[in-house]
Amino acid sequence: MSAAVESHQPRVGLEETRVNGHQVNGNGHPETNGDAQRWEDLFLPPPLRLDDKIRAQKIEARLSKLRLCGATLRRVAQVFEEELEAGLRQLPSSLQMENTYVPEMPDGTEEGVFLALDLGGTNFRVMFIELENGNLVRQDVKQYHIHEALRLGTGEDLFNFLADCVQDFVISLGMENAAFSLGFTFSFPMKQHSISSGELITWTKSFNCSGLEGVDVAALLQRCLRERGLDITVRVLLNDTTGTLVAGAHIDPEVGIGVILGTGSNGCYMEKVSRVQHWEVAHERVRDVAVDVEWGAFGDNGCLHFIRTEIDEEVDARSLLQRSFTFEKYISGKYLGELVTVVLATLARDGLFPATPKPGFLQTSHVSQMEAENCEGEVKQTLEVLRGACGAAPLGVSDALVAQYVAHVISNRAAQLVSVCIATLLRRMERPRVGVAVDGSLFKHHPRMQEHMRTYISLLAPGRPFFLMGAEDGSGKGSALTAAIAARLAKGAP
Ligand code: GLC
Repeated sequence: MSAAVESHQPRVGLEETRVNGHQVNGNGHPETNGDAQRWEDLFLPPPLRLDDKIRAQKIEARLSKLRLCGATLRRVAQVFEEELEAGLRQLPSSLQMENTYVPEMPDGTEEGVFLALDLGGTNFRVMFIELENGNLVRQDVKQYHIHEALRLGTGEDLFNFLADCVQDFVISLGMENAAFSLGFTFSFPMKQHSISSGELITWTKSFNCSGLEGVDVAALLQRCLRERGLDITVRVLLNDTTGTLVAGAHIDPEVGIGVILGTGSNGCYMEKVSRVQHWEVAHERVRDVAVDVEWGAFGDNGCLHFIRTEIDEEVDARSLLQRSFTFEKYISGKYLGELVTVVLATLARDGLFPATPKPGFLQTSHVSQMEAENCEGEVKQTLEVLRGACGAAPLGVSDALVAQYVAHVISNRAAQLVSVCIATLLRRMERPRVGVAVDGSLFKHHPRMQEHMRTYISLLAPGRPFFLMGAEDGSGKGSALTAAIAARLAKGAP
């Protein structure tokens, strides 16, 4: 595969935002009625409409804690801001606020050939990337599946596998003897020591390899590559959000935030250097630096207990890494299907839904499908999905409507919570306008996610103009661009 395609969502400004049919003005308040109660209501999903009104009321009551109102979201925002400040000051906080050591964005002079590695999901990608004047002129990609045994085995085995894949890839290109600079996108929380080194703090998503916490993953990769006789130098170690920010800023210099909303969720933004305390390299000439928030862990210290429900407790109990990255379990693609499953199981227990879905059957793609049908006023595919999930139980139209309602409430909460994070970053960045580059399957494929996010961000960050931009391939192009930035910085170093 070669040649890159840049995906660019149309910009949507505040003026185009509508909420439940109301125009929202630049202050984030509805035009129709300025009272506080109305602003609150704009966050709530529409009521469940069933012929059986008593059943609908009971279901709504069961789900009430999952429907967050404006006041609760403001409280979440306040806690997020406090945690963010504490994290930057290196005080106890559930937010890592990691210095990525990326101090500038692409300026269009980026040149050269690079290898880029992308590790974060069940597929590991190895890429050859060529840049000319900051533009991607060639991209070859090979994808390698990482089996569960490797994801849950030893760190040493995993990194030997990664190096084997890189070797296989360069051999397939006939370039096994060439010298390369490499950008390693490692999408897990790290303590970074420089732009090219960092230790794994903890595994997230579907990885839990032993013996790697506290290990410099760039150095380990470097060793495994050298052991195979490859002339490849790891120049940059970055998170996928940083790559997305850099790739987004390359498309539009107003981009100052990078977000992933996919299997996991996280954000990265340009912070004033005076507010960042963790530095291990000279930074006299640096004004702003990209900070990786690691918001998936928000609330792991208990500061968000006021939004936690029994449903969340159960999803957490069923997860690979319990009591860790609890916020991610409210918002990201890995968990939305599971959240819907657990809610339906709870309703079934109370006699409000005819069957308990099989654990692990409903995926976030099914949630998206139910939401899409709900927009169209259809139930056919929802019933099919439910039949797959619930076996032979008799299911009717009203059950499909209940499942769609649950999918909507869960999706709406995810959109609200990720919007709180983005809105908080917008408020503290104090720029005239900020582009938010977003990547990830949930953002791309969920039929309502983008619209909800535009709406809620405007409501939560009034008077802060922004635009959301789909920015694909942060871990490929973003990684190569960052490696080129690192090379530029190294040349300019005294
Ligand atoms: C998880 C990782 C984080 C990554 C995110 C999106 O939250 O901890 O580093 O950015 O997933 O892939």
